[in-house]
Amino acid sequence: MMERIALVTGTSSGFGLLTAVKLARLGYRVIATMRNTGSMGPLMDAAARDGVAPLVEVMRLDVTDYESIGIVVSDVLDRYGTIDVLVNNAGFALGGFVEELTMDDWRMQMETNFFGLVAVTKAVLPAMRSRRSGTIVNIGSVSGRIGFPGYAPYAASKFAVEGFSESLRHEMAPMGVKVVIVEPGAYRTPIWSKGLAHIRTSPDSPYGKRLQAVLKYSERAAATAPDPQEVADLVGRLVLSASPRLRYTLGKGSRLTLWGKALLPWRWFEGAIRQALR
Ligand SMILES: NC(=O)c1ccc[n+]([C@@H]2O[C@H](COP(=O)([O-])OP(=O)(O)OC[C@H]3O[C@@H](n4cnc5c(N)ncnc54)[C@H](OP(=O)(O)O)[C@@H]3O)[C@@H](O)[C@H]2O)c1
Repeated sequence: MMERIALVTGTSSGFGLLTAVKLARLGYRVIATMRNTGSMGPLMDAAARDGVAPLVEVMRLDVTDYESIGIVVSDVLDRYGTIDVLVNNAGFALGGFVEELTMDDWRMQMETNFFGLVAVTKAVLPAMRSRRSGTIVNIGSVSGRIGFPGYAPYAASKFAVEGFSESLRHEMAPMGVKVVIVEPGAYRTPIWSKGLAHIRTSPDSPYGKRLQAVLKYSERAAATAPDPQEVADLVGRLVLSASPRLRYTLGKGSRLTLWGKALLPWRWFEGAIRQALR
């Protein structure tokens, strides 16, 4: 029987690392990609602890470098003949208020979280289409359904992932390829410290007070957030599902917040967000 192959982006930490190990534990050969292979230590340690290191193969892939995407995907297809599962996980969260972020900030956020995901997907699609099978899991976010102040570029990038995934699901269903979006709320991963370290503002910013409130809220959410293993376990379950849904929302309060947005009058919902960020 042919080996099942999974390609995961952004596996140096967080969901990507845990998902790579989870898929290896399910018997997949995992092409664990990261933009700096010097950061493979924690992934390989975790894989060794679970006895699956021989199934995890690290390759260098920066999702904003389209040439490297082509090289990695061709190499995997040449060697294994298939990619059964693609997990588009690489991403980061840029914080700051719209007026204070530069256009380069906006572009970098969209290049990584959106165009990178589109480019990796496009590279993998021909092989999945011709075999009439495959599962593409896009790691979106609750921020792809609800915009919060102080995270507009992140929300815009994840809303874009939603629209893209929804359209792609329609396009690929007749070709036997499944497309799924996972929408986590806040989870305890390094994304918070990385993103918060790059927030743009100035000492005399008119948004200073509100930015501090947003940061405090984010720090509180990060500190009390659940174990990210939940997300990796969910990905493990849904790649084995014969007919996965389009969306999987998970995390503390995530579904309740989405219900609130869907059911409450907008003015009330807006008021609740303002209240939470006091
Ligand atoms: N944690 C949460 O609360 C949360 C909630 C909802 C959605 N998400 C989403 O989950 C995904 C994973 O995030 P995480 O929380 O696990 O954070 P994380 O630990 O910071 O992991 C992000 C991964 O993406 C990689 N990455 C960033 N830019 C890249 C690029 N240009 N090319 C390739 N890899 C790149 C990072 O690599 P480096 O180590 O090189 O930076 C890292 O491996 C992201 O898409 C994020 O938006 C996270």
